[in-house]
Amino acid sequence: MNESQSNPFGKHSGVLVRQGAPFNAGPAPELLVRSFITPNELFFVRNHGDVPTVDPAAFRLTVDGLVRRPLSLTLDEIRHFPKTTVTATLQCAGNRRLEMMAVEPIVNELPWGTEAVSNATWGGVPLRDVLAAADPRSRARHVAFTGLDETERHGHRFCFGGSIPLDKARGPEVLLAYEMNGEPLPPVHGAPLRAVVPGYIGARSVKWLQTITLREAPSDNYFQAKAYRLFPPHMRPESVDFEQGLMLGDFPVSSVTCAPREGERLPAGPVTVAGWALAGGGRRVERVDVSVDGGTTWTIASFASEEAPWGWRLWEARLDLPAGDHEIVCRAWDSAAHTQPESPAHVWNFKGYVNNAWHRVRVRCG
Ligand code: MTE
Repeated sequence: MNESQSNPFGKHSGVLVRQGAPFNAGPAPELLVRSFITPNELFFVRNHGDVPTVDPAAFRLTVDGLVRRPLSLTLDEIRHFPKTTVTATLQCAGNRRLEMMAVEPIVNELPWGTEAVSNATWGGVPLRDVLAAADPRSRARHVAFTGLDETERHGHRFCFGGSIPLDKARGPEVLLAYEMNGEPLPPVHGAPLRAVVPGYIGARSVKWLQTITLREAPSDNYFQAKAYRLFPPHMRPESVDFEQGLMLGDFPVSSVTCAPREGERLPAGPVTVAGWALAGGGRRVERVDVSVDGGTTWTIASFASEEAPWGWRLWEARLDLPAGDHEIVCRAWDSAAHTQPESPAHVWNFKGYVNNAWHRVRVRCG
């Protein structure tokens, strides 16, 4: 077996498998910051069900609901729309849940470290061109996506889905993608066709897309109506009132230190700290700060990669660490002057979503 592809779905051996079935995995943090674009073999995977087998010849994308011209498109017909590429980071809303779990246990959710995030160049057609062909009615406000994969919740079997507001769907960055980093979209990432919704939590980038439905209200799919909502801190699974959950869209500004790793032993002296930072909703990462005294004083990091409007920014900082134990803390600021909360305790919620607290890595020097 090729050592570099010893994980299922052609994934690199440096990919950490959080769950075998359904397959959920992401790259070791230090591999993530080696390149601005995450190679397909490292890109994280978040699946709620099994990867469906799709016959490309029989495949049809349905566009229905509040449209004047319902569509049923073959892959060839989709490829006839002008092609575009967008470099965009996908991040799962559950990324960094493990830090929240240390505050208070979270049940029945994946214990993601910092690996449920990756950056790719997606190729496909702008969703807005396909929507224009279907001619949405004036009452349409939301665009619902349904995938071909089935999952089960509370005794019901159904296909994964979610929705985005029509205003967002009309942005040039939102794609129906059939390519990933110049290659055909891999099956585990949604082949033959997926939505890519830059700036939004990954759940809205529905894979194995089969239906696009224009609606007055958001999707009533479980993963829009009940899951991927941000609940108040006092709410628990047994007391949940789904109406009180904020439907997640744009993700909040976040940053993570990928190297050195948690618990690493280093020689005392100069050390290069490296990580990624991400601003949601099309905002820009303006600055990343690093501290080794718990946030009393900060060193400003420099950006270490190119910039793309919907992509993350890689950063680096040089620190001089004397012998002893240290905690390296990072936080980012975006173009709306938003920054990260100090502790996951400040943003804890029972589903463990959108933890963007200051990221901390403990190392021992000397
Ligand atoms: N689409 C379908 N059909 N089924 C899924 O389970 N998972 C979503 C989204 N789209 C999912 C899906 C979630 S929660 C995330 S974070 C992203 O896909 C992950 O995309 P990736 O597996 O390509 O990294």
